[in-house]
Amino acid sequence: MERLDKFLCDSSAGTRSQVKGIIKAGCVTVDGKVEKDPGAKIDPDTQAVCLNGEQVTGAKRLVVMLNKPAGFITATEDKNDRTVMELLPKELQGRGLNPVGRLDKATEGLLLFTNDGDLLHRLISPRKEVPKVYYARHEGTANEADVTAFAAGLTLGDGTVCLSAILEPLGPGESRVTVCEGKYHQVRRMMASRGLPVTYLERQQEGKLTLGDLPRGKIRLLTEEEIRDLEEK
Ligand code: URA
Repeated sequence: MERLDKFLCDSSAGTRSQVKGIIKAGCVTVDGKVEKDPGAKIDPDTQAVCLNGEQVTGAKRLVVMLNKPAGFITATEDKNDRTVMELLPKELQGRGLNPVGRLDKATEGLLLFTNDGDLLHRLISPRKEVPKVYYARHEGTANEADVTAFAAGLTLGDGTVCLSAILEPLGPGESRVTVCEGKYHQVRRMMASRGLPVTYLERQQEGKLTLGDLPRGKIRLLTEEEIRDLEEK
């Protein structure tokens, strides 16, 4: 069961306040009867919701993976910078997609979007502890003491305490970093706190999802199976 106004909103009938107005004006029926309560609970699988006599079939749940290039900020709009929304193809614009979490302007790689608000909140909850894997190029070379410090949970300069994380040195100036949270500039700040300032950062994996051969700047829709996997996390 879900609220009538949310169902109509998710079906792109309008914004939450527009939809409330439409419902209160008596334009919406549920199983043939006018429903004027925006908070009425409906079951979209068994009940017919009509707007001005036309049945509303509900929004298809979408989860989109983008291979983000540098130079775009993770926001739905911005006065100064280009946003990741511009990278969604036309047919996916205006479908209620929002970025899941955030990549910095300079960071590249895996960024998810969804039009399902509940899924979005579940995915960004730190309690979920979805591991996110980053490839970093940085100054200096990571050593065993850095690996141990990451595993113990770093405390950053401003007192921010990080959960245990995995640092894998790959060679001079190159490391793989796995973190389970999404604090502001987290990987860059963790690396800087060990004297290893990051010069390039790419998110390669989130949970089981990897970029695969998705080209930079391109998107693909997740399959139902991939979405179910995400939900199980
Ligand atoms: N950590 C960062 O520092 N930046 C990102 O974009 C993601 C994780």
